Amino acid sequence: ELRARCDCILVGIGTAIADDPELTVRIAGMEQRSPVRIVLDRQFELPLTSKLVRTAREVPVIVAAIPPSALPDISPSRGEIGKRLAARSNFDSTSHSSTFKVGQGSAPSISPLEGEMPGRAEGGNRESKRQLLTEAGVQILEAPTLENLLRILAESGMSELLVEGGAFAAKSFLEAELVDRIMLFESPVVIGEGGIETPLNRADITGDYALVSETAYGRDRCFDYERPI
Ligand SMILES: NC(=O)c1ccc[n+]([C@@H]2O[C@H](COP(=O)([O-])OP(=O)(O)OC[C@H]3O[C@@H](n4cnc5c(N)ncnc54)[C@H](OP(=O)(O)O)[C@@H]3O)[C@@H](O)[C@H]2O)c1
Repeated sequence: ELRARCDCILVGIGTAIADDPELTVRIAGMEQRSPVRIVLDRQFELPLTSKLVRTAREVPVIVAAIPPSALPDISPSRGEIGKRLAARSNFDSTSHSSTFKVGQGSAPSISPLEGEMPGRAEGGNRESKRQLLTEAGVQILEAPTLENLLRILAESGMSELLVEGGAFAAKSFLEAELVDRIMLFESPVVIGEGGIETPLNRADITGDYALVSETAYGRDRCFDYERPI
């Protein structure tokens, strides 16, 4: 239901690879309400075999390449994120901004930012991966900052973005102060061996946000915070 209420939904490439999510609305009768799906993926590593790519011609998928302005202060669950980002610190964070049209798959021309990276799924260099994704119907959007990404989306008529995770992506939006609403789900159950990184706990939520509701789902609880706009 949350997805159906949003214009677009976003995950980091870590989640796209770990979970292979579809990010669609699958409630009977509401399937047409699926949001535009966005993956933060600077190296174009979204696998061509992923559910997202395989359904890109049915529900739009955007791969957003955005250099991180600063590393969020988390211990990445994949463990490699910090190392990889540090290795890419020569990324030009000022240049590439592009416009796009949902459903049209524009492919703005850019110069290659770096040579071949160790691919997580497909192999090949960044540019060839980009090309393959474009041919599969995925749209590419390059922007200098997350804020710029939101502006481009808003100019395309998409004003509500649901950031569904993982911790790295969520924390990036929080640290850029781009979050108007936080839905924090708490469970007494530990998910996975050793747990999964959370971008924040209730104690981390600043006074800028007000708790507007608390809802129980069985033994889980959802705390809903909003920041006045
Ligand atoms: N509990 C939940 O509700 C929930 C929800 C979703 C996911 N998860 C879990 O979370 C785990 C994955 O989380 P994660 O923190 O490892 O990864 P993640 O946030 O899904 O993805 C991290 C990657 O996204 C890209 N990225 C994210 N933010 C960016 C930014 N601001 N600028 C540029 N690139 C950015 C970077 O990839 P590049 O550097 O390659 O571009 C980064 O390495 C999985 O285990 C998944 O199952 C849990």
